Amino acid sequence: MAVIPARPSLGAIVFEPIGIIHTPHRAQAGTPIQPAFAQGVGGSVSVFAPYVGALADLAGFERIWLLYHLDRAPAWKSKVVPYLDTVERGLFATRSPPRPNPIGMSAVRLLAVEGDELRIVDVDILDGTPLLDIKPYVPHFDAHPGARAGWFDESTSRAGIADGRFSGDPRRREPTE
Ligand SMILES: C[S@@+](CC[C@H](N)C(=O)[O-])C[C@H]1O[C@@H](n2cnc3c(N)ncnc32)[C@H](O)[C@@H]1O
Repeated sequence: MAVIPARPSLGAIVFEPIGIIHTPHRAQAGTPIQPAFAQGVGGSVSVFAPYVGALADLAGFERIWLLYHLDRAPAWKSKVVPYLDTVERGLFATRSPPRPNPIGMSAVRLLAVEGDELRIVDVDILDGTPLLDIKPYVPHFDAHPGARAGWFDESTSRAGIADGRFSGDPRRREPTE
């Protein structure tokens, strides 16, 4: 199969934030690395006015996916040592922040929809993170508890709190290798 050369010119894709995520986490170091390690950590989402009508019917879902801009991620790297391992892995086999398009996704628990605000718990997201989208978490679509999980299945580390390895100067557009 042909490999597509470096970076085909498809043009920039521009997203505008639809809201802001508020959390107690101010820095990468010390922040849980996934919602599974953030149980009970509360936060909120402020949804911007044009999108508030789109929150109708969301309150019936126990969990929601938040898709957001990892706005404090460092420049992307093709190999990283993930938090739960000690050796380098291909970036796309990890959930690490230094991504070419730094998008984060977290299935948080939804406590309440109050006007333009969502109250949430199980938050692994830094305070002030720009929100890109909200989708309902539907177990029938999203839960595959027996699925193989590559290197993670071999990892014995379950230290679920980030250190500072992915903090630093955010530079979005590193050239492709
Ligand atoms: C391993 S990432 C996983 C994020 C998300 N659950 C995912 O799978 O896409 C979680 C870590 O990203 C870092 N982080 C959270 N919000 C961030 C932001 N806005 N910019 C940069 N890093 C962020 C924190 O250190 C947190 O511990």
